[in-house]
Amino acid sequence: MKNKFTSGLSFKLISTIIFVILLVEVFIYLPSVASFRQTWLNDKLSVANVAVRVIDIVPEAMDLPDGMADKLLDSAGAIAIVYKSAGQSRLIEHSNILMPSIAITADMRQNNVISLISGAMDTLFLGSNRTIRVVGATLNEEQSAIEILLNEAPLRKAMLIYSRNILIISLIIASLTAFAIFVFINISLIRPIKKIINNLIAFRQAPENATLILKPSKRGDEIGIVETELSALESDLFSQLGKRRHLADLGLAVAKINHDLRNMLGSVQLLSDQVANLDDPKAQRLAPKLVHSLDKAIKFAQSVLEHGRQNSTEPKPQPVDLQVLVNEAALDARISKHPNIKFSNLVPDYITLKLDPDQIARLMINLFNNSREAFEASGTRTEKPEIIVNFENRNEQGLAIIISDNGPGLLPRAKDNLFVAFEGSAKAGGTGLGLAIAREIIEAHGGTLNHIDKEVGATFEISLRSSLIFE
Ligand SMILES: Nc1ncnc2c1ncn2[C@@H]1O[C@H](COP(=O)(O)OP(=O)(O)O)[C@@H](O)[C@H]1O
Ligand SMILES: [Mg+2]
Repeated sequence: MKNKFTSGLSFKLISTIIFVILLVEVFIYLPSVASFRQTWLNDKLSVANVAVRVIDIVPEAMDLPDGMADKLLDSAGAIAIVYKSAGQSRLIEHSNILMPSIAITADMRQNNVISLISGAMDTLFLGSNRTIRVVGATLNEEQSAIEILLNEAPLRKAMLIYSRNILIISLIIASLTAFAIFVFINISLIRPIKKIINNLIAFRQAPENATLILKPSKRGDEIGIVETELSALESDLFSQLGKRRHLADLGLAVAKINHDLRNMLGSVQLLSDQVANLDDPKAQRLAPKLVHSLDKAIKFAQSVLEHGRQNSTEPKPQPVDLQVLVNEAALDARISKHPNIKFSNLVPDYITLKLDPDQIARLMINLFNNSREAFEASGTRTEKPEIIVNFENRNEQGLAIIISDNGPGLLPRAKDNLFVAFEGSAKAGGTGLGLAIAREIIEAHGGTLNHIDKEVGATFEISLRSSLIFE
């Protein structure tokens, strides 16, 4: 199981802040430790410069008083000093310390940042037991340069202490900042977010409980907007749920009525069959009409019931060969081997889309049935009845599947409520469910279904996102 503390927002936040601050501190630390070393070495050079001046006062012929050179060198912390005086190089050495044979050079006249930083790193990592030759400018103008030899260890020690202090200060700054930001964010963000999350969880468990609807605080910021929107969403959901429950009750009643009605219609049908067998010619003429009407009534009752049962399920997309799917739907809708209707499937055979095959097939069957029924109802009015399915990849504008026929086209009264369940039908025995269901299916796939006005026949266009194409 995940540790609740380390997976929370606050932990991520604090560790990120501390990490960033320490990272920034490294960038500040490098130049500052370099400058610390520069100052330290320059201080030694200054002392050496003063010492050299003192020595220069003593005339050359005279020897320095006993121990004076050593004292001067000690005051500069140096083993030896080399300087030029009156065109001549002079060396002052310590009498008790052996002159080392190797020394690394630090030229203090060069002060570009990179060489200073690399010098500092060199001292820190390698300078525990070395001698360093420090070269600097002199105060005296005739003297071009002054050099001192020193032990590097004291410098390194001073730098380590300095680094340790910086580290301590950085840690204190990082923790204080992280703590301050954490407290601020916790109060202004994390706590309200937790409140919202808790509300969401509680409301989801009991959306029929109106007291669980979030009461937004009066904040004007983004959290405030989330709260108001969520509160509105929950209110909507609450009232829709109420409506749904009423509808469900109604549906149940309809189903019961339907069931009884179908039984009754069944016995009426039996009766009418018997009437058809009577000798009376009038009864024989009327009976088939009666049977036909009853058939339609039963079919209607059945489709209404089916629509009620079909709770719109979420599509389960999978790669589907569109050409095959269209062919199968055409077979189911009895248009592909129809004696009078020509069916042309112009979908290329390499098109694979991510769709719910059952739902899309149902949609296609509904559209094909409508076309077929329109042709059959119009009799022989259309010369060469044809249903065509086309596919277009419009790239940025998405994909389109176009189903068109050259039949009689939509009646004006069909156009008005075309996609509204139980309203859209303009034919005897129609339920007006076909197109309503078709649109619902396409919208669940993130697309749209529209009727396109053309001079001849009826054309329906399915638009889908390009991302549904499977490659
Ligand atoms: N291809 C078409 N040609 C002519 N009219 C159509 C076509 N498709 C649909 N319609 C009209 O739209 C109406 C609604 O269709 P639909 O929603 O499938 O309901 P139903 O088919 O049950 O009437 C139909 O009654 C019909 O008048
Ligand atoms: Mg239909």
